[in-house]
Amino acid sequence: MTGWLDGEVALVTGAGSGLGRAIVDRFVREGAKVVVLDRAADRVASVEAAHHGSVKGVVGDVTVSADNETAVARANESFGHLDIFVGNAGMFDFGARIVDTPIDDLGRAFDELFGLNVKGYLLGVKAAIPALADSSGSIVLTASMSSTHAGVGGVVYTASKHAVVGLVRQLAYELAPRIRVNGVAPGFMSTDIRGPKALGLSEQTPAATVDLEQLASVVTPLGFLPRPEDYTGHYVQLASRTNAAATTGVVIACDGGLEVRGFDLALGRG
Ligand SMILES: NC(=O)c1ccc[n+]([C@@H]2O[C@H](COP(=O)([O-])OP(=O)(O)OC[C@H]3O[C@@H](n4cnc5c(N)ncnc54)[C@H](O)[C@@H]3O)[C@@H](O)[C@H]2O)c1
Repeated sequence: MTGWLDGEVALVTGAGSGLGRAIVDRFVREGAKVVVLDRAADRVASVEAAHHGSVKGVVGDVTVSADNETAVARANESFGHLDIFVGNAGMFDFGARIVDTPIDDLGRAFDELFGLNVKGYLLGVKAAIPALADSSGSIVLTASMSSTHAGVGGVVYTASKHAVVGLVRQLAYELAPRIRVNGVAPGFMSTDIRGPKALGLSEQTPAATVDLEQLASVVTPLGFLPRPEDYTGHYVQLASRTNAAATTGVVIACDGGLEVRGFDLALGRG
């Protein structure tokens, strides 16, 4: 059976856990070879072991230019080329509100969160551009329902995910016609995502904060909590040369239908 990514080589950041890990598992099933970049050595070892020969790991920090360059070099050395860069490593702010955040913590949280969610993507893209230009490849960045909706994240996370839409659009403009650039904007999922140290949230997890199944069932029209793997088909399609050849500058929303929540007129009838 042929896969949609047969013969392609991808680099996925934040690939040790949650959505990134699900993307790697799916990409390999679709025929790709994958380099994973994650700062957690045990997670990198676990993905490599699960996909012996198809996945090469780099333990590193996406906010460090040299680590991104090492990951791109690993793709070239191990698999001969690089066709797909997936920027995905990110952190959440667990809805921290500006009025509750002391000003010094706010500044440090901004640097930490934008450093990962925005600068981390930019440095990865910058490192990958020469190889992607050689292969006429593509970029897919993980955005979020917070790229278009207020009130899930706090102001820092929401601004960072809106910025990801800006990255997709401007990079799609600058890198055409050689490299396509798109995004995927997932909704709720249960993962190990953490928050900024500056807000005391580095050990916080979504499951400890809120009942995600209950929330997704009440808030989204589709009424269920997706698993990370439920989002991965969009990455496959956008990365596919044959199935998204004319698509660049697009962010696919896959948030259970938040855009069409609507409202119940009966509520206004008293
Ligand atoms: N969890 C959600 O509900 C949700 C919803 C929408 C979008 N997202 C986005 O999905 C993406 C992935 O998040 P997730 O929920 O799978 O989180 P996760 O914490 O489960 O996975 C993120 C991975 O990134 C790694 N990482 C963190 N900082 C790093 C760094 N500086 N350098 C290298 N690796 C680093 C972690 O070790 C971890 O393995 C993020 O961009 C997040 O904003 C998540």
